[in-house]
Amino acid sequence: MNGQHFQSIWFDESDNSVHIIDQTCLPHRFETLTLETLADACHAIEAMQVRGAPLIGVTAVYGVYLALLEDPNQLAVAVDRLAATRPTAVNLQWALDRMNAALRNTLVDQRVAVALQQARAMEAEDSAICAEIGVQGAKLLQEIWDAKPDKSEPLNVLTHCNAGALATVDWGTALSVIYKAAEAGVELHVWVDETRPRNQGASLTCWELGHQDIAHTLIVDNAGGHLMQQGLVDCCVVGSDRTTITGDVCNKIGTYLKALAAFDNDVPFFVALPVSSIDFTLSDGIKEIPIEERDTEEVSHLSGIDANGLVSKIRLCPEGVAVSNFGFDVTPARLVTKIITERGVFDAEQSQLARLRS
Ligand code: MRU
Repeated sequence: MNGQHFQSIWFDESDNSVHIIDQTCLPHRFETLTLETLADACHAIEAMQVRGAPLIGVTAVYGVYLALLEDPNQLAVAVDRLAATRPTAVNLQWALDRMNAALRNTLVDQRVAVALQQARAMEAEDSAICAEIGVQGAKLLQEIWDAKPDKSEPLNVLTHCNAGALATVDWGTALSVIYKAAEAGVELHVWVDETRPRNQGASLTCWELGHQDIAHTLIVDNAGGHLMQQGLVDCCVVGSDRTTITGDVCNKIGTYLKALAAFDNDVPFFVALPVSSIDFTLSDGIKEIPIEERDTEEVSHLSGIDANGLVSKIRLCPEGVAVSNFGFDVTPARLVTKIITERGVFDAEQSQLARLRS
């Protein structure tokens, strides 16, 4: 932003404070917020000022730090409260378990210092992991680009939701693959699914890609199948909120339909994720992954900027209509071409993913 590099969350040493980009204001306004309390951290996750599986996890561990600053005895309360903020992304529980393990046996008067050290380490680690996911995935995009006979057209990549720097501390998962491929010289164009109901594609992915000078086009969620039939998609790259040991992938609602269309059109369907998004305890994503149900207003209403430059909300449907709002869906492993992690590229199969447990 204006020549300054921002992460989605960061700790400011000069005044010992935790800051986030308020993603509910994007793309219309760039605003940052300071998180001061456990309540602030929980609100940031629940109101989706921060969102995306890895970023939720890192925000939660900073939430533990803030809770201990308020009262070093409230570790268990803080962990339980933060764990309840959003159900689907496994990184939240993974990050809290890790924090809890580091703090459980720490003397109460040392907890704040250890919590801060852990949170900062996990922040830095997430950024490094996401950069490496990009490096690993870029090799796949490079191969498809090298094999593409007609280089007068760019490599067309379709993505869903926002699995970019805004969904992590930095770089992103799916978008990290795109950024690293672009850095390596692959000529790219991205089809961005708007991603109803909250439109993370339209508001966040387009904003990010615009700032990174990556060519992109916004499409309605239903357009992907048609584009694939017309040969206008070379591959899909999406993120994941929770992946089973068998390779089932849970991501933003609508991902499954894209995977079905990709399968039917022989378009590679790649899922980019940190190993922390794999839930090694689950083997059947459809039966076992909890799917978040969100406020029905996200479906019945739309918010955006009007002709006067004011952000406003409008209702789309008749008043009082019944509305359902599942936030995520599960794409079965058989529709996933490859899983891209910081530790390499794998088939969506238990025999391969189980190796990542250690
Ligand atoms: O509801 P959101 O915006 O938190 O959903 C985010 C996604 O579905 C992302 O694709 C997912 O977290 C993977 S991003 C690293």
